[in-house]
Amino acid sequence: MKIVAGNWKMFKTIEEAKAFFAELATTMPPQGDKVRVLVFPNYVALGALAEAHAVPDWVLLGAQDVAADAEGAFTGEVSPAMILSTRATHVLIGHSERRHVIGESADLLHRKLVNSLVASLIPVLCVGETLEERNASKMKEVVFGQLDTALADVRLSDGAQLIVAYEPVWAIGTGVNATNEQIEEAHRLIREHLKQLLGAAIGGFVAILYGGSVKPANFASIAGLPSVDGGLIGGASLKPVAFAELIAIAEQV
Ligand code: PGA
Repeated sequence: MKIVAGNWKMFKTIEEAKAFFAELATTMPPQGDKVRVLVFPNYVALGALAEAHAVPDWVLLGAQDVAADAEGAFTGEVSPAMILSTRATHVLIGHSERRHVIGESADLLHRKLVNSLVASLIPVLCVGETLEERNASKMKEVVFGQLDTALADVRLSDGAQLIVAYEPVWAIGTGVNATNEQIEEAHRLIREHLKQLLGAAIGGFVAILYGGSVKPANFASIAGLPSVDGGLIGGASLKPVAFAELIAIAEQV
C-alpha cells in the first residue's frame, strides 16, 4: 500500500479548505486499499472541516503539529485530545520547518511524539539533513540522531502506529529532488535503523515516505522505488487536480 500525504503548511482559510475538498470529492476515489490518502490542514481549517463534514470519507486528516503535554497552561498549544476531537488521526512531528525555522529542539520533538502515541494519535516523524550536512557526508549521522532522540525508549506494539518521512531539507520547496539513488540509500538506512530501534518486525512494518519537491511529473518514479511507501507533499498538494493526479499515480505504481 502507498500513502499520499498532503502537507498544506500555512495555506488555506476555512473557505479555501472546504473548496479544495468539494473539488477533490468530484474526482475518482482510490479503489480498494492500494492507496491511503492523508491531508494535513492548519488547525483552524481542521476543526471547521470536521464540523461541516466537508471531507470525503476516503481521506484521513492530520494536524501539522501537537503540544508536548496532555493539557494545561500552555498558551497557544493544541493537545492530542483536541486534535482527535476533529476527525484527525495523524500528526506531523519534526517537520524541517519546525526544526529549522521555528527552532524546535530534538527533546521537545521526542516529548511531542510520546504525547501523541499515548493518545493514539499516529505520528508522522519527519527526518532529514540540510545541504551542509549532506555535503559534509553527515546524512546518516544526522538522520540516525533524529530517529534516536525522537524514538528514545519508545515501545510500539504495532508498526502501523508510526510513519516516518525522509525529507532532505535541501529538497523541500526548492524544486530540487533527491535522486532515486539518494532516496533509496536513505530509506534503506532508515529501515535498518528502525529495525534496530523498534525490533525487526515492527521496524520492518513502519511506512517510510519521501518528501521534497514531489509533483505529478516525478512521483511515479519516486513512488515506484521499492523502499518508498509513499510521499509527503507540500506545494503540489494544494491544488485538487494535482493532488488527484498524485493519488492516481500511487494507484498505478
Ligand atoms: P514540498 O514540501 O513538496 O513543497 O517540497 C514537502 C514538505 O515540506 O513536506
